[in-house]
Amino acid sequence: MVKKIIITIDGWSSCGKSTLAKQLAKSLGYVYIDSGAMYRAITVYFLRNHIDWTDFREVDEALKNIHLHFEYNVQSEQSEIYLNDENIEYMIRDLVVAEKVSDVAAIAAVRTCAVAQQQKMGKRKGIVMDGRDIGTAVFPHAELKIFMTADISIRVERRYKEMYAKNPNITIEEVKSNLEMRDYIDSHREVSPLRKADDAVLIDNSNISMEEQLDFALKLVAKVL
Ligand code: DC
Repeated sequence: MVKKIIITIDGWSSCGKSTLAKQLAKSLGYVYIDSGAMYRAITVYFLRNHIDWTDFREVDEALKNIHLHFEYNVQSEQSEIYLNDENIEYMIRDLVVAEKVSDVAAIAAVRTCAVAQQQKMGKRKGIVMDGRDIGTAVFPHAELKIFMTADISIRVERRYKEMYAKNPNITIEEVKSNLEMRDYIDSHREVSPLRKADDAVLIDNSNISMEEQLDFALKLVAKVL
């Protein structure tokens, strides 16, 4: 039987984690899971239902009513996230969600809930998961861990292009301040802050192409297999 492994990709916001994760999953026939989409979906629920997330009882109650799952969309060739059976993929990357998601993701109960589901998804291996704590907290024994980074100006430009396509009123300053704010909160929170696992391989993709990046990552996979 072919050996299947768990590949984790962590790193700063908008440094191309999901692009590499999707390409790797496609090349290897693995499942790709976007863990950030889960925190974004929980944020959508909290915003819609006016949950006061500084009140831990309210958060605990709300989490009981949140059911998340991913479904593969053949047309977009992507796994899309469902919140209580509603496809909310199209709205999770809006600025209103991006502005609050790091605060929501810093709540211990939210992380416990999301991490438990993520670990279940990795039971059968053959998975590429990207996020902030996948190599450190979700799958600390993963066979291959990657940590990604890129210059802030490049990250801002990438995210700006992506958001501008949906919202031409957005400014580059708004995108930059959102990325900087999220990076700060994500790396300074108490529970599993963003950090490179000691055994993760660093990829700085500021000056390399997507093809070079995939090639490098596939060589890492080949070494493990
Ligand atoms: O990967 P992303 O930008 O879609 O993630 C959105 C937010 O969710 C990010 O700012 C921090 C949080 N997140 C997290 O705390 N842990 C993860 N494993 C993934 C995302």
